[in-house]
Amino acid sequence: MRPLHQLSLPEKLLHTGFIVLVCLGLLAAEAYLFVTHTGLDGKAGVTLKDIQISYYGDRSASKIQSVLPTMLTNAGVPKAQWPALQATIDHWVQNGQTQAEYTAKVKPIIDTHCMMCHSDAMSKQLHNPPLATYDDLKKVAQVNTGMSINAMFMGGMVHLTMLGVIFWIAGTLFLRTRITSALKGLLVIIPFLGMLLDYSGWFATHFNPAFAWMVLIGGALSCPVAALEMVAAFFDMWIGLPGFLVDRSAKS
Ligand code: HEC
Repeated sequence: MRPLHQLSLPEKLLHTGFIVLVCLGLLAAEAYLFVTHTGLDGKAGVTLKDIQISYYGDRSASKIQSVLPTMLTNAGVPKAQWPALQATIDHWVQNGQTQAEYTAKVKPIIDTHCMMCHSDAMSKQLHNPPLATYDDLKKVAQVNTGMSINAMFMGGMVHLTMLGVIFWIAGTLFLRTRITSALKGLLVIIPFLGMLLDYSGWFATHFNPAFAWMVLIGGALSCPVAALEMVAAFFDMWIGLPGFLVDRSAKS
C-alpha cells in the first residue's frame, strides 16, 4: 500500500472525509458519555463513582431501608432491637430478595412490627404501601442495580462492531504514515485492547464496583487513541509530521 503522503488528491480527500466525520462522531460519543455519566454522584466530571452508579447502581439503600428507623419508631420497637432487624432487612435487600429468605427471615418481622399499619385495609386508610405479600415488599425494596445485562449485550453489539471497524480503518491509515514502526506497533493494538478492557469492565463493575477502573482506563485508551491515529494520518497526508516521530528511511 502506498504511504499516505504519496496519494493522489481524490484519495487524500476520501481519507480526510472519513477522518473528519469519524473524529466528530467520536467526540460526540465522548460528549454523550459525559452527559449521561457525569454528576451521578453529585460531582462534576466522570468519576469512578459515576461509573459505579451506571453499571453497579447505588445499592446503599432502598426505600424500605431508608425509612426503617422511622418505621421502627412508629412501631414502638425498642432501640436495642433495631440493629438485628435492620441487618436482616439489609441482607435480604442486597442479596437478591429471594422468596425463601423473605419467608424465613423477613416476613416474621413485617408481621410482628409492621402489619398493624401496613395491612391491605390499613394501608388504604393511612395512605401507605401495603406490605402483606412478598410482591408488596419487593416493590419497596427496589434498589438501583445499574445497567441491566440485557442492555450490556445490546450495547456491546453496537459498540464492539462499530468501534472495531472504526479502529481497524484508523489503524490501517496510521500504518500508512511515515511514523516509526516501533510507535506503530505499540499504538495500533491499543484501541482494541482498551475497548476489550472497557467492555469487560461493564460486566465486572456490574457485579463488583471495585472494577470501575477498567471502564475508565479502557475508555481512555480506546477512542482517544484511535482519534490520535487519525489525526496523525491527517497531518502526515497534508502537512508532515515532527521529525522525532518519523522513520528516517521513510522521510522522503
Ligand atoms: C404506626 C403505624 C406504622 C407502623 C407500625 C409502620 N408503618 Fe410504615 N408507614 C406508616 C405510614 C403512616 C406511612 C406513610 C407516611 C410516611 O411515609 O411516613 C408509612 C410508610 C411506609 C413506607 C413507604 C415510605 C415512602 O416514602 O414511600 C414503607 C416502606 C414503610 N412504611 C415500611 C414499614 C415497615 C417495614 C414497618 C415495620 C418495621 C412499618 N412501616 C411500620 C405507618 C406505619
